Amino acid sequence: MVPGEYVLTEEDFHRIASILHDHAGIQLSEAKAALVYARLAKRLRALGLENFRDYCALVAGTDGLGERQKMVAALTTNVTRFYREAHHFEHLKTRVLPGLVERARRGDPVRIWSAGCSNGQEAYTIALVLLSAMPDVARHDVRVLATDIDPNMIEEGRAASYPEAALSDVPADVRRKWFHRVAGPGEQRWQVAEELRDLVAFRELNLFAKWPMKKRFDVIFCRNVVIYFDKPKQAELWTRFSAALKPDGALYIGHSERVSGPAAEHFAADGVTTWRHHKGGAR
Ligand SMILES: C[S@@+](CC[C@H](N)C(=O)[O-])C[C@H]1O[C@@H](n2cnc3c(N)ncnc32)[C@H](O)[C@@H]1O
Repeated sequence: MVPGEYVLTEEDFHRIASILHDHAGIQLSEAKAALVYARLAKRLRALGLENFRDYCALVAGTDGLGERQKMVAALTTNVTRFYREAHHFEHLKTRVLPGLVERARRGDPVRIWSAGCSNGQEAYTIALVLLSAMPDVARHDVRVLATDIDPNMIEEGRAASYPEAALSDVPADVRRKWFHRVAGPGEQRWQVAEELRDLVAFRELNLFAKWPMKKRFDVIFCRNVVIYFDKPKQAELWTRFSAALKPDGALYIGHSERVSGPAAEHFAADGVTTWRHHKGGAR
C-alpha cells in the first residue's frame, strides 16, 4: 500500500484499523495509510520485526495489550494548546463559574473533567480560570480531572513542563504569575506553578472502557476528541457524558463537533459548541 522498508498490505491496514476502532473507537480511512506506515514503522524497527503482518499478529495476540496501547498512542493526534478555543474559557468564567464558586463556598464539591486532555494544557487552562475566579480555591473541594488514553500524555501532564512555543496564547501577566522558567540547556521550558498542579489529577482512561468515577461532573470538556470516532461511537459517548453530567452541567466540545444521537435531546445550546445538560436527577 505504501512504498518503503516494510510491506504493508491492504489486509494489514484493515487489521490495524479494526484493532484501533475496537480498542479506542478511532476511525481510520485508507487515505491515512501513509500516516499509519510512517508512525508504525518506528514500532516495527524498535521491535525488530520484518513486516506489518507480524506486527498485526503481535498486537492482536493475547499478550498484545502493551503494544496495542503503544499503537494507539502512535496513531492518535495529540495537538493541543493553552486557551484553545478561548470562547469556552470566557463562557466558563462568566456563565458557569459564578454559580459553581457559590456552591463551593457552601461546601459542595465541584468537579470538572477534561476528557481527552492530551498533555494537560486544556486542564491547566481550566485551573487558571478557576484560580482567577476563586483565588482561595485550594481551601474548597474543587478539582479538575484530566484523562487520556495515551500514557505518554498523562506523564507529560503530570510533569507540567512545556516548551516556550506552547505558551504563545498565555497572556504575559498569567505567564509571570503561574509559570516558572525551567533552568537548563536547549529550548526554553516553563513549569506550571504548584497551585495549579494541585488542582488537577491526571489519570489514564480509555473513553470506551468502564469509567471508575462515581460522582457526576459539573462541567465536561471533551474537545477535538470525538472527531476521530465514527457516528455510533460518538452517540455512545454523548449518552455516557449525559449520564456523567449533573443537571444544568456544561459540556464543551470541539469547533467541528456536534452532539448527536439519542442524548442530543438532553442538551440545549448555550453558546458556540457549548451545551447545557437539562436531564433531571439528583444533584
Ligand atoms: C487532538 S487531542 C485534543 C486535546 C484537547 N482536548 C484539546 O482540544 O486541545 C485528542 C486527544 O484524545 C485522545 N484520545 C483519542 N481517543 C481516545 C479514547 N478512546 N479515550 C481517551 N482519549 C482518547 C488522544 O490521545 C489525544 O490526546
